[in-house]
Amino acid sequence: MNDKTLVSPLIPSKENHLIEDVELRDLINREAKKAILSMAQFHELEMMYTCAIKEVKTKFEVLSTEFNCRFKRNPINYINTRLKSRDSIFNKLARKKLPLTIESVEQNLNDIAGVRVVCTYIDDIYELADSFLKQDDITLLEKKDYIENPKENGYRSLHLIISVPVFFAKKKRDMKVEVQIRTMAMDFWASLEHQMKYKKMIPDQDKIVAELKKCARVINDTDKKMLEIRKHIETAQDEPTEEEILSEKLRQINKPI
Ligand code: GTP
Ligand code: MG
Repeated sequence: MNDKTLVSPLIPSKENHLIEDVELRDLINREAKKAILSMAQFHELEMMYTCAIKEVKTKFEVLSTEFNCRFKRNPINYINTRLKSRDSIFNKLARKKLPLTIESVEQNLNDIAGVRVVCTYIDDIYELADSFLKQDDITLLEKKDYIENPKENGYRSLHLIISVPVFFAKKKRDMKVEVQIRTMAMDFWASLEHQMKYKKMIPDQDKIVAELKKCARVINDTDKKMLEIRKHIETAQDEPTEEEILSEKLRQINKPI
């Protein structure tokens, strides 16, 4: 191998002569190429997870549009999405002592793609989860019901790890997405509790933890009470007359979708 073959564009030629050891220069060039290829592969993986997020978000938006058109009430308040940051991925793999490779990310981490659906009432959560999971391209991989079984700190939410096929130009890939469905009250609580976790030194930490737990109970009671009241109002309403049903249908037809 002559010296010229080692002059890779990865080390600009004007700097190549600075590394006199030919073997070392070769090694650096090879490692630099590997690193660039890994980064490109990782970027592609991020693109695929971003598309999986779009698929899942669209599914919930479709349900929301349908509910909006069919009924007077929309169960979804808002949908947030996030792609796990490179820092968080690296830290999670390191924390779990897992290999820092693309394959390891795909195999071991379920929450690279995250979709959070925030509803008004507790029964909306289960109704939406049911409609979503019934779709024949969705595979449920794991379900954690922190509403039925809240965490010790008071955290409540329904977590689903699902797999969804995503069609790209030349291939189809099944991608994992973490879906969290919760009420506005649960979301409000979780945001505050999350903030506390990231602050290192909080005065009276134990007191705050206890107060948050108390708030979680109050929020749970309020969520249940609000649902009870809504159901009570619904059942108290008289059966609509034929004219009322037709007039409601007319109102729906004229409503923009
Ligand atoms: P992670 O390794 O953190 O992903 O946990 P896990 O794999 O055991 O999954 P789990 O379903 O318990 O939690 C997944 C996600 O739910 C977290 O990344 C948070 O977004 C949210 N979450 C879970 N527990 C809590 C909690 O106690 N407080 C808050 N604010 N969020 C939580
Ligand atoms: Mg997580």
